[in-house]
Formats: sequence, structure tokens, C-alpha cells
Amino acid sequence: MIKEVTIKTGVVGWPISHSLSPRLHGYWLDKYDIPGEYLPYAVKPQALGEFLKSLVKKQITGLNLTVPHKEIALEFLDETDEVARRIGAVNVITVQKDGRLFGRNTDGIGFLTNLKTSAPTWSPNGAAAVIIGAGGAARAAIVSLLDDGISEIRLINRTRRRAEDLAEIYNDPRITVRDWQDRSKYISGAALLVNTTSLGMKGQPPLDIDLSELPLAAVVYDIVYNPLETSLLKQAKLRGNPYVDGLGMLLYQAVPAFQSWFGRMPEVDPGLRHYILEGL
Ligand code: ATR
Repeated sequence: MIKEVTIKTGVVGWPISHSLSPRLHGYWLDKYDIPGEYLPYAVKPQALGEFLKSLVKKQITGLNLTVPHKEIALEFLDETDEVARRIGAVNVITVQKDGRLFGRNTDGIGFLTNLKTSAPTWSPNGAAAVIIGAGGAARAAIVSLLDDGISEIRLINRTRRRAEDLAEIYNDPRITVRDWQDRSKYISGAALLVNTTSLGMKGQPPLDIDLSELPLAAVVYDIVYNPLETSLLKQAKLRGNPYVDGLGMLLYQAVPAFQSWFGRMPEVDPGLRHYILEGL
């Protein structure tokens, strides 16, 4: 029997062929037998505004945004939530009944839910986090950790100026900027170490860091998910630190979007993890 499609959603990026989101939302649509579709849309940066204006005509009610559209999309939306404005990026758009476009950012939720689920011992109380990187992923991590009540964030980026710009934007005494070349030193006493850079990703060099100063109870979190076990996580595992891979961030950022578009809270189950890994 042909399924009747009633709810149309998708993801827009340039390029879009590598996006795992159609596979991810497709898994849930099948699992819950929901009459909806989730399609990839390849749209060039200069055409994004026009594409977003056409959503009502295309009867698309929900849209994810991926590289390179997340930041620029802010200017085309009628409404955005506070978290999206603070992160400076939108990854979820909902077309409201009156046609207005509402943008949110769920990357921070994905980051934090993954941390709490994968490292149940994690607590922000009195904790210092070391964040490596100062791009979009770092912003999502910073905002969610600050909101969750972390005590201290040490921000380290190859280009120090970018880290300083972030510290200035967030203007929070809990954030300090440290030097890239001394990164192995600044993990001393930390409760969380996060790699938000692309280092360690397939085809990229590993993140070169010496973990000997890191407390053994500290959680090591790599937002890279291809490969699932980066050299950073291998080092953490060898020492006996709790560690968190990046796949869960991708899966958990999708949960609130799916729920708001299709009216059902989807589950991140082991079958989903397996299915997504097969698509890498
Ligand atoms: P995203 O939005 O995915 O975080 P981004 O804005 O391009 O992507 O940020 C990439 C991050 O990875 C930056 O912090 C970048 O450091 P710079 O600001 O110095 O460019 C970091 N990064 C990428 N390649 C790197 C490398 N070879 N060594 C150190 N840092 C690197």
C-alpha cells in the first residue's frame, strides 16, 4: 500500500548528499509509521533566501539547516528563539500556520543530552570544562554548558582571536581564553574536555594533546563521529577516563525537531545508532 504523505519536511545544505539526517528521520518515520516525508534539498548559499520564502508554497512545514546555512539563515526568519540567537545559528525551522518561519537551535540540547546520557557521572557543579575550538559547534557547547550551570570554561583555539571574540560575545566571568600551544597543561583539574574542532575526523590529522594532566574522572567528549572512536577517545579509553563520542549529539539534536513536526517524541535506541553507523 502506498503511504499517504501528509507532513513534508527535510534538510537544506550545500552540498547535501553526505547528510545523515534523511536516514535519521526516515528511521523514526518508519518506526512510528508516520505518514510524513523528510527529503534532502541541495541549495546554494545565494539561493537560501528564495528557498525559505518558497516553503509555504511547497507545503514544507519543517526544515533542518546544515552547512553552510545555519548562521546566515537567521536573517531570513520571522522569529527565532533566544538560544538560537545566542548560538548565532539556526538548525531547525518550523513553518507556522500563518506562514511565518520560526527558527531554533537544538545543537546545544543535542550536545548536553548526549553528555548526560553517555556519561551519567557528569555533574556541572564546581566543574571546569576545557573546550577546544571556537566555531559553531563550540558555541553550541558553550551556551548549553553555561545554561546548565558549569563553574568554569577554559576556551582554547588555534586562532586565539576567535576564542577571544566568543569570550567577548558571551561576556561571562566563567569563560577564560587559554593558549593553544599550552593545551595539554590547561586540562589540569578539569572535569570535562571537549573537542569541537574537525581534528580527528576521517581525512584530518588527530587532535594532538597529552592527557597526562587530566584527572581520571574527567569526561572526554569528542563531537567527531566519523570515526566513532577518534585517537582522542582511544587515549581516554586507555587511561580509563569516561568518554563520549559525537554520534549521540547528532541523534539527540534531531529529537526536539521530530517531536515538534510529527507530534511524537522519538527514541534514540541502539538500533538507530547501528543504522546510522551503517550509513557513514
Ligand atoms: P564548526 O562550525 O563545525 O565548528 P568552523 O566554524 O569551521 O566549524 O570551526 C572549525 C574549528 O576547528 C575552529 O575552531 C578551527 O580553528 P581555527 O579557528 O584556528 O581555524 C578548528 N580547526 C580546524 N582545523 C584545525 C587544525 N588543523 N588545527 C587546529 N584547529 C583546527
